[in-house]
Amino acid sequence: STKKIGIIIGSLRKESYSKKIALAMANLFPEGFDLKVIDLSDLPMYNEDLDGETPPNAWTTFREEAKKMDAFLFVTPEYNRSVPAVIKNALDVGSRPYGQSIWDNKIGAVISVSPGALSGFGANHHLRQSLVFLNVLTLQQPEAYLGNVTNFLAEDGTITNEGTLGFIQTIVDSFVTLIEKNS
Ligand code: FNR
Repeated sequence: STKKIGIIIGSLRKESYSKKIALAMANLFPEGFDLKVIDLSDLPMYNEDLDGETPPNAWTTFREEAKKMDAFLFVTPEYNRSVPAVIKNALDVGSRPYGQSIWDNKIGAVISVSPGALSGFGANHHLRQSLVFLNVLTLQQPEAYLGNVTNFLAEDGTITNEGTLGFIQTIVDSFVTLIEKNS
């Protein structure tokens, strides 16, 4: 049956490189994979006091949408050598109420994106740290650190370097294999 993949993007910026990479990657999946960006732009900051009988609607909408997914493609920039708050907040909101985490037993892949040469390593691995605890079976290899992104990403979102495109296809193929073996 069709596998549903939620795309989680760590940047809310309209012209986000991470978003452009995520959308380019979505086109590289084979048939039988249904990809959808999960919008995080209106997700309020997690607050335990609000998580009672009537949590904020945006949390409920997010949890219900994410719960339906088989897997998640996390594409994120690095902020101050770590994961941006927007993505950490999504992890936190999805992890509660206690015992009802939407992440449990899902499959994931982490792609860090940066205009710099260090390629978002810090964000990539801080995100992995949370995913270990949240029990998301995360693609280990190939690791995906996409640095110097402006060298191969056109403004319209096209990936202009054949070698990089081939590498990104390898990430997608490995993720597809991981999903097929585990769901
Ligand atoms: C950054 N940027 C950045 N880049 C990086 O490689 N390592 C870092 O630690 C940081 N830190 C950082 C903090 C904050 C608050 C901002 C706003 C930016 C630069 C960042 O990579 C750049 O703005 C990207 O364009 C952001 O990704 P999107 O929005 O293009 O996906």
